[in-house]
Amino acid sequence: MRPTTPAIAEAMPAGIGDAWRAARQRIDRLDARLLVEHVAACTHAELLAHPERLLSAAQTGELAALVARRARGEPLAYLLRSAGFHGLEFAVTPDVLIPRPETERLVELALERLPAVPAPRIVDLGTGSGILAITLARHCPQATVTAVDLSPAALDVARANAARHGVAVRFCQGDWYLPLGDARFDLIVANPPYVADGDPHLRGDGLPYEPRMALTDGQPGGDGLACIQAIVADSGEHLAPGGWLLLEHGYDQADAVRELLRAHGLVEIASWRDLGGIERVSGGRSR
Ligand SMILES: C[S@@+](CC[C@H](N)C(=O)[O-])C[C@H]1O[C@@H](n2cnc3c(N)ncnc32)[C@H](O)[C@@H]1O
Repeated sequence: MRPTTPAIAEAMPAGIGDAWRAARQRIDRLDARLLVEHVAACTHAELLAHPERLLSAAQTGELAALVARRARGEPLAYLLRSAGFHGLEFAVTPDVLIPRPETERLVELALERLPAVPAPRIVDLGTGSGILAITLARHCPQATVTAVDLSPAALDVARANAARHGVAVRFCQGDWYLPLGDARFDLIVANPPYVADGDPHLRGDGLPYEPRMALTDGQPGGDGLACIQAIVADSGEHLAPGGWLLLEHGYDQADAVRELLRAHGLVEIASWRDLGGIERVSGGRSR
């Protein structure tokens, strides 16, 4: 029999078990499994119970391409086009930041602070894939939820996620509070770009694949606080009396953020730690 070249072998139909075995030679075992299940549209149980199930030539080719992209460092969520957050599944594309587990802390703090009024007004500034607005709308169906982003492409992803989860969120395109007129809110949440310019993390761990405008404020040599500063500075004109502003920030920014909140007249200022013990969310209340 004529030996097959590796290129031909890659495109030949294979069983899903063999495909998983081959993929984990190149990438992390769990990532390999998830990519096989994604391409074969099968569950983990099916992969284990029926490893002989064949992939078509097209599926084999698709899997090879995804494994190669993962091996080059592209985040798994972009390859699967999906990411979990706070128990829900969200569509993600390279136009949005991949949801991070530490952002779940912001959801919990927000839910604890929602006022017991018939229809609390919530705004999520820099909504990206919509995770904060949509999760809060799911947990608090009586709220009126607005979400803002500068990126029209991100808003398309967020709108699709809101439809998928059956929640009504008003999406607005623009620069922080600008599209909101003089509206006031009982709760403002934001996970703005906060990575300092030149931070070495921007060059590794999949971050080069994420939208730059979701990560940094674009200020050459900036400390990463420009967006947080803009949001805090105008919060007085958009918080209802007693309303809360909650912001996610970088691991070393809590002192600076509390100082900004104080300088702009907020009260009950505090920072809260994430599961890693890092002060990750800071906030304050209007008088
Ligand atoms: C760190 S991402 C957060 C996305 C999402 N909220 C999350 O937690 O995964 C920041 C978001 O802010 C948006 N953004 C950046 N500058 C903005 C601005 N001036 N006005 C509104 N949104 C902005 C980006 O497009 C991005 O979607």
